Amino acid sequence: MMNKLSGYSVVLILYYFIFSSSPSYATEDAGCLFCHQYPGLVRLQKNGSLKNLHIDPEFYRKSSHAELGCEDCHKGINKIPHVGANEINCTSGCHQSKEDQALLKQTTLKNFHENQQSVITRMPDQTSCKVCHPVYPHSKQPFIRAWLNMHTGYLICETCHLKKEKYPDVSYQWVTTKHVAFKGKSFGSYFDPDKKHTQSPESSLSRIVPVVTANGIERVLVNFEDTEKARAFLAAGPVSSKENREVAMAYYHRDIGKMNVATVCETCHTQNGLLDFIALGFTKERANVLINTNINSIVSEYDDFYIPHIFK
Ligand code: HEC
Ligand code: HEC
Ligand code: HEC
Ligand code: HEC
Ligand code: HEC
Repeated sequence: MMNKLSGYSVVLILYYFIFSSSPSYATEDAGCLFCHQYPGLVRLQKNGSLKNLHIDPEFYRKSSHAELGCEDCHKGINKIPHVGANEINCTSGCHQSKEDQALLKQTTLKNFHENQQSVITRMPDQTSCKVCHPVYPHSKQPFIRAWLNMHTGYLICETCHLKKEKYPDVSYQWVTTKHVAFKGKSFGSYFDPDKKHTQSPESSLSRIVPVVTANGIERVLVNFEDTEKARAFLAAGPVSSKENREVAMAYYHRDIGKMNVATVCETCHTQNGLLDFIALGFTKERANVLINTNINSIVSEYDDFYIPHIFK
């Protein structure tokens, strides 16, 4: 139920993005790029590898298959979520000659979109979290996991995972990580502290972080202090007892809490949400894109979501 609900709210948020931010994609394909246009949309697989789900519209249009709609090859994706829907048909209208079919048998299609995908390959931010967790750490919640992963290029883990009861009074700022490596195009934001506004990043990527003020001194709630200790902990190899493991985990996660999966998206993408986008330096237009309204009331009205174009 939780998963289902969160799926709906994601869909509705994206529905909003569709009609508010980039209407030009609406007629071009079955609506696939509404979601798949976002760089950093990545799934962490069970074996630890990444599945990149981003398709860059511009690079796609320059590719040799640009004249085809997504649904010409991707048969049977007509419902959201569509986890595991990998059926590809190269021979329904094309590649029908014997030569082509023989060639197709020998070709691996695995990296078909590789040159149309952007992703962060290295983010050396020196946080303790990165010692044990990869750049894209989410694998569990189907459908929202890829969206959560996308946000690790926008937000420090604690912006979502902070134990709120321990820090009831926080504000938000930017921290910048240098030497971030992107494959494809860079994405996300760089916050220019002099001009006080956001711009596209190059190799310096800024992310939003919670801040507490005590006795007039500001402290960013990013964990740098346990990084060395965490490295030593990993280097020491497997922990002998379950108790010791639990003690260590409780220590490294002492500030880390859970988010409500069903309402995670509208925590921020709503009027008066967790983050004040204007105060953070986003333009008014950008802030409008990021704010969504009335999600809660609409969520309950949908039973299932079908990709509209396909069902016309
Ligand atoms: C010419 C055929 C073709 C077209 C057109 C096409 N795809 Fe694909 N797509 C593939 C193949 C082949 C794979 C790889 C399947 C596999 O891994 O077995 C793939 C994989 C994917 C994946 C999974 C991630 C990955 O890279 O493996 C996504 C997401 C995707 N395509 C989205 C799209 C979108 C969105 C469009 C339209 C903009 C599109 N595709 C157009 C053939 C196509
Ligand atoms: C509302 C957003 C949304 C729309 C619209 C959408 N997708 Fe997806 N798609 C996703 C998400 C999110 C995932 C990753 C789900 C997961 O974590 O397993 C995904 C996964 C995929 C995958 C990988 C499947 C797998 O499990 O390996 C393919 C292929 C794909 N989409 C193709 C398409 C095509 C083709 C279209 C248009 C017909 C489309 N998508 C429309 C959000 C969307
Ligand atoms: C020493 C290694 C280590 C460090 C450092 C660490 N983690 Fe973890 N974390 C783990 C392991 C292993 C798990 C798997 C679940 C478990 O065994 O508790 C986990 C689980 C989690 C979970 C899921 C908890 C749950 O109950 O589902 C979150 C969220 C998380 N970590 C966030 C963070 C963040 C944020 C940081 C940085 C402040 C961090 N972790 C630092 C090793 C680490
Ligand atoms: C956009 C908000 C958001 C950000 C940013 C974020 N997470 Fe999460 N994360 C969630 C939500 C929601 C869940 C599922 C419920 C929960 O455990 O709080 C989750 C679950 C997890 C889990 C366990 C479940 C899984 O999918 O494997 C781990 C581990 C985790 N997060 C680690 C991290 C780390 C490490 C970072 C920083 C690199 C991070 N998260 C950044 C929202 C976020
Ligand atoms: C803690 C706050 C927070 C949460 C939770 C959150 N977002 Fe975001 N989201 C942001 C911020 C901030 C940005 C823009 C970052 C930037 O541009 O640097 C963003 C960007 C996006 C974008 C890209 C918009 C664009 O036009 O480029 C999409 C789509 C999006 N979020 C969807 C979601 C979905 C779906 C969820 C739930 C799974 C979610 N967000 C949860 C803060 C959040």
